[in-house]
Amino acid sequence: ERTEGERLAELAKRRGYFFGASGAYGGAAGFYTFGPQGAALKSNVEDAWRDRFTVQEGNFEIEAPTIMPEPVFEASGHLDGFDDMLVECPDCGESHRADHLVEDNTDVEDAESLPIEEVEALIADNDLRCPNCGGSLAGEEIEDFNLMFETNIGPGSSTPGYLRPETAQGIFVEFPRIKEYARNSLPFGATQIGRAYRNEISPRKSIVRTREFTQAELEQFVDPERDEPDLESVADVEVTLYPATEQGSEDGEYVETTVGEAVEEGIVGDAWIGYFLGIAQEWYERVGVDMDRFRFRQHLAGERAHYAADCWDAESEVDGDWIEIAGFAYRGDYDLSKHGEHSDDDFTIFRQFDEPKTVEKAVVDPDMSVLGPEFGGAAADVKSALEELAERDPSAFDDETVSVTVGGEAKTVDSDVANYRVEEQTVSGEHITPHVIEPSFGVDRTVYTLLAHAYNEDEVDGETRSYLSLSPTVASTDVGVFPLVSNVGELTARAEALVEDLRESGFSVVYDDSGSIGRRYRRQDEVGTPFCVTVDRDGLEGDGPDSVTIRERDTARQVRVPIDALVEELRAVAGD
Ligand code: GAP
Repeated sequence: ERTEGERLAELAKRRGYFFGASGAYGGAAGFYTFGPQGAALKSNVEDAWRDRFTVQEGNFEIEAPTIMPEPVFEASGHLDGFDDMLVECPDCGESHRADHLVEDNTDVEDAESLPIEEVEALIADNDLRCPNCGGSLAGEEIEDFNLMFETNIGPGSSTPGYLRPETAQGIFVEFPRIKEYARNSLPFGATQIGRAYRNEISPRKSIVRTREFTQAELEQFVDPERDEPDLESVADVEVTLYPATEQGSEDGEYVETTVGEAVEEGIVGDAWIGYFLGIAQEWYERVGVDMDRFRFRQHLAGERAHYAADCWDAESEVDGDWIEIAGFAYRGDYDLSKHGEHSDDDFTIFRQFDEPKTVEKAVVDPDMSVLGPEFGGAAADVKSALEELAERDPSAFDDETVSVTVGGEAKTVDSDVANYRVEEQTVSGEHITPHVIEPSFGVDRTVYTLLAHAYNEDEVDGETRSYLSLSPTVASTDVGVFPLVSNVGELTARAEALVEDLRESGFSVVYDDSGSIGRRYRRQDEVGTPFCVTVDRDGLEGDGPDSVTIRERDTARQVRVPIDALVEELRAVAGD
């Protein structure tokens, strides 16, 4: 018996969904090419995501570069903290993820959150061995391995850059410009669909864990004190939740509830996360995930990324394993504050008060010429940085020296030089750093789930057939068009004309006249084409308008429709 994953990998290769890339040269682990069926399916998934998370939400989509300079990742924390635990086999030299080895071979569920020494001890105590050669890994040192791919920008090696490990950073870095586009008014969301790169230690499960993959991410920027999501619109959506409190306990169980109740009862602590779980639940259902094999699981405290205060994953089940297909993280003001500290740009939003307020405001000594020559041309920048600091945190001037960052460089000024006095001022608002809620979807893992969940076998006309019950929303091909037989010119000509008409109406169509009609149906069933249209003699010989049959993939049932009504009928059955 093959596993679901093995069957899927075989079908994916044979029918042009996806296969290991650069096979002609032996390939490289963790890289996949999507063939014609897969590329079309993936692009339909991206379109469906764009429609729901960008267009319907009124958000802004951007497309930033995939290579970004080093300071971006210094600020974001990826240079320091984006590591996995690597252990190398002393016998065969193969590298493995130490936390995965422990999770796969012991009762420990969340080895990633343990200190390195504990994972080393677990490997030794359980005598864990190299999955490649069986050599002992006991006593081997575990190393923190940074997952980013490094490169050089321009000739020479002076400017290091990195391939982005998440599309999110492209949005955060451009926040100062996107906020202007959003007329400096919260809340708003920015989205991006694009490639991300991680030098995974052990790529696995074909397109589930790769080194180059596609993310669809939404960064929702909000004023945490003022903005609320439209929770009403998803309050009744039913969800299966697996909160952190239930995990790992003997009677750990799911909570079947609605989004509205989950937020009200505090199972989901933040209304924005609840809102996005609701629309994600509906979206996954629409694109064809089997919702009996789907859940939302809350991260355990040790599992969360360096930027996340809370995180829920969307998980799908394949082969008895749960795969993380999306993450919903509360990133707070982590990212915008970091970029604000590390760059000269303004990552805040001006929050207007309802009524102007009289406040005590710190004013930096205007005579900054006293800063002296050591500040050179930066004196004006230092002054404005001090002014900004005086506004944000006047207590910073209580110490003997005050430090500010200008152009990425720390500058220290004596407090009496950078003196300030308190004045009463009328202000109309204040600068705040928006908070971020981030739904982050893996497109490849969605495609993998859709294909795994769509696979079916049944019996038609006494024969076993396999078919993919892909949703018409995402199926690679909308319609197969066949002449009943290939040697009658009238039928083939009519079928070919139909192909043109349907393509003009926006359908993606394959024409097939080779082999028996039964075989042609099976071929389309196997790749998941929802409808096949057959031109036969009955349709041509009738008195009224020409007619054709439409065959529906899952039921294999056929209905006859007039050609004039075909486009309308197909749109209706496809649910468009
Ligand atoms: N910006 C947040 C972020 O990147 P993540 O949980 O690291 O969060 C988000 O990644 C999603 O990207 C995951 O839920 C998963 O679907 C997908 N993903 C992450 N690493 C992947 C890999 N190596 N191969 C395929 N998909 C991956």
